[in-house]
Amino acid sequence: MSSMSSVFATVAYTPPDAIFELTKAYQADPDPRKVNLGQGTYRDGHGNPWVLPAVEAAKDIIKNCDHEYLPILGHPQFRKLVTELVFRKDSSAIRDGRVASCQALSGTGALHVAGMMLRRALGHDRTVYITNPSWSNHRQVFESVAFSVREFDYASRDGIDMESLLRALNEADPMSIFVLHASAHNPTGWDPSPEQWRQIGAIMKERQLFPLFDAAYLGLTSGDYDQDAYAIRYFAEELDLEMGVCISFAKSMGLYGERTGLCAFVSRHHKVASNVESNLAQLIRGEISNPPAFGARIVTAILADDGLSSQWRSDLTTMSSRIAGMRNQLFDELTTLGTPGDWTRITQQKGMFCVLGLTPEQVHLLKETHHMYMAESSRVSIAGLNEGNVRYVAECIHQVVCRTGE
Ligand code: LMR
Repeated sequence: MSSMSSVFATVAYTPPDAIFELTKAYQADPDPRKVNLGQGTYRDGHGNPWVLPAVEAAKDIIKNCDHEYLPILGHPQFRKLVTELVFRKDSSAIRDGRVASCQALSGTGALHVAGMMLRRALGHDRTVYITNPSWSNHRQVFESVAFSVREFDYASRDGIDMESLLRALNEADPMSIFVLHASAHNPTGWDPSPEQWRQIGAIMKERQLFPLFDAAYLGLTSGDYDQDAYAIRYFAEELDLEMGVCISFAKSMGLYGERTGLCAFVSRHHKVASNVESNLAQLIRGEISNPPAFGARIVTAILADDGLSSQWRSDLTTMSSRIAGMRNQLFDELTTLGTPGDWTRITQQKGMFCVLGLTPEQVHLLKETHHMYMAESSRVSIAGLNEGNVRYVAECIHQVVCRTGE
């Protein structure tokens, strides 16, 4: 190595993350008409970030807290209350002590620690299956823990491609890991019906596949936490499957920057769960030593208090119904304008996102000409719409679609 050469000479430039770049470009755009339909962050009816009233009240409760380290596995009451929230207090998995958990750095951190744990448990020659398309971060999270990642087609033009999904389940090697979006599939917004979840679960059980739920939108999808947790509870309780669940409070409590989440594994026996938990502790210690306290304290203050819990449930309804309302309005505007294309998917898809089905060229034109920011796949965050911009958005889509002849 010459004195001028760099240790990093072989490190190639890696392009920045597309979703975060969109936010940056939107923020830098001085045009007053600009609309941000990129990153999935809830916005209120005026396009502003929303601090949930339940969170506002919780902050008041914890304002005199100390600043000591949390235990390695995280805030004990947080872990207890969140597992009870997700699986239900009276679930047999909780009753029998079969849930191992650790606090994690929101959904991404939970997926990462889940990946590390599964790598330990299963070795590296297993495959992680993700949907195509999927959240743009899934692949790199699992590749970063040295799993090979395979995709299977998930969506057709008007719904889930069940044939492809079932084929992937039937062809995968036993002990393959399937990353399942518990509710509000990102980006398509197409969720399996309860009947379809039952079909998926039956094959997973029979073929010994491992479900890993990415649960970033529980409660925000329908406004009803229990409804959104259906698949997780069905797999854990009815099918009695071993599984992983990665919980985030970014969207459901608006705690984006606090990185508050939980990684939980349900296992067959209490003894196995405590072994798993001991490994989670070691992994967390090696990664972050112990997790951040602020967000966990907020979540705990809410879940431990009946009044705040019911305030939170009403906050979830506020968010989910505003999003649903905006779906209807965008659909109505496009229909009134007579925009060529089938837009029914806008109202059929669920959750924060909707894939409009525009070409990359159209997406580019919307950004350059109309200051409308969305992912290249034409995924839009419906939460970025409001009374003040929905007509403008529809008119711009109309113009661009007519102009490009699609
Ligand atoms: C999104 O998909 O836009 C959000 O989940 C934000 C992110 O981190 O990508």
